[in-house]
Amino acid sequence: MVAQVIDGKAFAAKVRAQVADQVTKLKEENGITPGLAVVLVGEDPASQVYVRSKGKQTVEVGMNSYEHKLDPETSEDDLLALIDKLNNDPAVHGILVQLPLPKHLNEDLVINSIDPAKDVDGFHISNVGLLGTGQKSMVPCTPLGCLMMLRDHHGSLSGMDAVVIGRSNIVGKPMAQLLLGDSCTVTIAHSRTKDLPDVVRRADIVVAAVGRPEMVPGDWIKEGATVIDVGINRIERDGKNKLVGDVDYASAAERAGAITPVPGGVGPMTIACLLANTVTACCRANGLSEPEGLTA
Ligand code: GUN
Repeated sequence: MVAQVIDGKAFAAKVRAQVADQVTKLKEENGITPGLAVVLVGEDPASQVYVRSKGKQTVEVGMNSYEHKLDPETSEDDLLALIDKLNNDPAVHGILVQLPLPKHLNEDLVINSIDPAKDVDGFHISNVGLLGTGQKSMVPCTPLGCLMMLRDHHGSLSGMDAVVIGRSNIVGKPMAQLLLGDSCTVTIAHSRTKDLPDVVRRADIVVAAVGRPEMVPGDWIKEGATVIDVGINRIERDGKNKLVGDVDYASAAERAGAITPVPGGVGPMTIACLLANTVTACCRANGLSEPEGLTA
């Protein structure tokens, strides 16, 4: 079997267009412009690239972008004071604090100081609990993007065997909760899992989110399975810098029914879902009905 390629870049463009339509509607019918505040502490180059891209795409869909770039030495008190100000600012519907934070700042404390209704990352402990109990919450962007692509490809996921490789709070755990919410039978595999190849071979859906280049070879993939590769790993091959996923794409594509490429798969969906979450947060804050298809 040669796999169908799931085009995350095209899918993300569709999500952004839906968000832009919703923003236009909010402006014209309600006089509201959704606003997203992004806070960056320090000068981590990768974080600077992400934050720039988030700000640019926010503006492109017609929303207001508020960027707060803080000195690497910023105290916890000063950061918490800024978050408190954003929590109380009615023009701000979404707040994202870019991670990782400098070592002297307590990440859990900072994230949990964000108003859960504005927590567009879905990292606040209240949102984690709401998602885990099947209640309405803000859903982490990367797993939300994966779920959208899976639903688009399969329609219903009910009864499918899903394996999530990786147990991070940002991707693995919320991904498993979302798949469970869609009535999959879910296994979370990790570095201590016994017989990982056999576990993966049982899966109709494989989500790989470990951050290890090409660790899943094609012969672990069940014929016809759907493979969602969350990994973005920079490697050097044949003297060139290359981006690869957690799955060995060439061999997996020979067995899978459908597969996301790297780059151009899950990656573009993350920011698209951040924009979707911001519109959702804005609608909820204003007691308006939520746009369909942009939430879990
Ligand atoms: N750093 C890397 N990915 C993310 C993300 O999705 N959200 C935040 N806040 N920081 C990140």
